[in-house]
Amino acid sequence: MRLSLYRHHKMLRTLLLFAFAFVCVVFAGHVEPVLGNTDGVTSIFRPLAQPAQEIKETSFLVLAICAVIFVVVAGLLIYAIVRFRHRAGDELSEPPQVYGSNQIELAWTVLPILIVFVLILVTSRTIADIQNRKAPRGAIQATVIGHQWWWEIRYPELGIVTANELHVPASDGTGSRPTFLKLQSADVAHSFWVPLLSGKTDLIPNRQNLMWIEPTKPGTYLGNCAEYCGTQHARMLIRVVVHPPDEFERWAKEQQQSASPDTNATEGRKVFFATSCVNCHTIRGTSAQGKFGPDLTHLMSRETLAAGATPNTPDSLRLWVRDPQSIKVGCLMPNMQLTDQEVDQIVAYLQTLK
Ligand code: CUA
Repeated sequence: MRLSLYRHHKMLRTLLLFAFAFVCVVFAGHVEPVLGNTDGVTSIFRPLAQPAQEIKETSFLVLAICAVIFVVVAGLLIYAIVRFRHRAGDELSEPPQVYGSNQIELAWTVLPILIVFVLILVTSRTIADIQNRKAPRGAIQATVIGHQWWWEIRYPELGIVTANELHVPASDGTGSRPTFLKLQSADVAHSFWVPLLSGKTDLIPNRQNLMWIEPTKPGTYLGNCAEYCGTQHARMLIRVVVHPPDEFERWAKEQQQSASPDTNATEGRKVFFATSCVNCHTIRGTSAQGKFGPDLTHLMSRETLAAGATPNTPDSLRLWVRDPQSIKVGCLMPNMQLTDQEVDQIVAYLQTLK
């Protein structure tokens, strides 16, 4: 009696554990954004663009098939456990000895093969659909290069270089304007993931991966690096800003400009070009041509600093220039040991980079 009570508890515990694991899996896709932007809540269950929608449909079909299998198997298991459980007096008689049934063996061989076949066909069709998409006329080409811990974004055809915020046009009634991405890495493996727009694709050193996105709804979409890449992997955020087509053209025009030779902030300009800032950062139209850190030509057009670690406000910019490690421990931008005055001057100069 005590033994069967013990077994009962164990079974209940296992069931609860299963239920808990299921809930975890279901809600794992729901990630709150770092910055309080209610539009930016990311969920793989509410995709707003291709190919994320197509991926969701396939996953739901696969989930549904697996759920039916789970219910059937678990049902049979529970039935067998309850119906044939140990009863008092069972020791006296032996259960009926059965061996072999061609029908049953045929059924449980053929049925799983059919199910696996359906899953393979459906999945490979989705993969082929997504991978074989050809860039139509008017598609945007961009290269995304993963760095520890930020994203370099280049538009070779438009002559634009920026960082951490990928700007793309929306495909609206006037035509399809997907963005095709070439994914590369400057150091270790990263993974580009914007859940509302697409699945994950890795950025691997010495290799080029391809992906595309085609959002239809303007707005800001949040994403993360999805492959552990070092200390600040968690603060390697990506924003995809989707513009209506004409607004995108305007953005591109602005980004194509070199930095205007501003006559203000001359002190700050002097300090900037006298320190090793120029070894890592490029400001187009000046002698700063460093390639190691983000291009700063239009720094002020970006919403965040340090790959989404902090909003781009004058205060956080000041803190970032004074001591980057206080915002993003381990980031590769060093503390330059600037005086308060130099920090203020450099920040004043950076604020002219619109
Ligand atoms: Cu880059 Cu994780």
